[in-house]
Amino acid sequence: MKKITHAVIPVAGFGTRMLPLSKSVPKELLPLGNRPAIHYVVEEAIAAGIKHIVLIGHAQKSAIESYFDINAELDSQLRHKGKDELADSLNWLPEDVTVSMIRQGKALGLGHAVLAARPIIGEHDFAVLLPDVVLDPFTGDMADDNLAFMIDAFAEDNHSQILVDKVADEDVHKYGIAKLNEAFSEDDEANINASFKVAGFVEKPNLADAPSKLAVVGRYVFSNHIFDYLANTKASVGGEIQLTDAIDALISEYGVNVTTMRGDSYDAGDMRSYMQAFIYFAQQQLANEE
Ligand code: G1P
Repeated sequence: MKKITHAVIPVAGFGTRMLPLSKSVPKELLPLGNRPAIHYVVEEAIAAGIKHIVLIGHAQKSAIESYFDINAELDSQLRHKGKDELADSLNWLPEDVTVSMIRQGKALGLGHAVLAARPIIGEHDFAVLLPDVVLDPFTGDMADDNLAFMIDAFAEDNHSQILVDKVADEDVHKYGIAKLNEAFSEDDEANINASFKVAGFVEKPNLADAPSKLAVVGRYVFSNHIFDYLANTKASVGGEIQLTDAIDALISEYGVNVTTMRGDSYDAGDMRSYMQAFIYFAQQQLANEE
């Protein structure tokens, strides 16, 4: 079986929707309960079998790389003070997992950021996780979760997989929206993982133009071919090189599937939903301490 072991996490955004919090702290390091938001995203990737994680950042994001590195000075200070347990808890990344960071250079959009990973990903098929979206880690079993389902589905038929979830009318304009080949049965597909073919995507449409309410959640499993399409994708919506456009090109040649999402997701890239997410994560963790 073809296993996906590489993942790309783009962290190059300025996080303007999170100002002033994100002015001097990368938004990916803002807390959700007692961990930085990106901690959960990396844990999710590892639980799904990912071994090599490539962060795509820029000069102001190097603190994220440090978070996943061992701080030798802090480690020895803690151990010197007999705080071995605390020191161990900071070194939680499994030994067979690597997290590296490369810089995007020019900020030309999400598609451009993913393409920047090509020299490291090479010929591998790979996953992409957008760190603005954090999947609920408190319910269900992470190791048997959405990304793992998508990786298995990809292994079966080689179709790239894109995680989608139904969003409220007022949120449609914030997301890539799926155009379906077949009728989507809300009752059948709600809160279970199901994979089916998609006709295309529209990036951030007005509600009136939206082909469905199924939004791209920020988890993708791509065949390596996506790089060829990204290399030929021109800037479009917002003047940016959109990942969605490259996916549309991939669909026409190879076919792409959507996977419906199980569980809940939280948008940590928008102030209002970030605050709601923080409250939920903190409540869960406080309850687990009792
Ligand atoms: C990106 C994608 C969009 C997706 C969204 C999920 O947009 O372009 O298709 O629905 O992430 O969070 P962004 O939020 O980076 O503008």
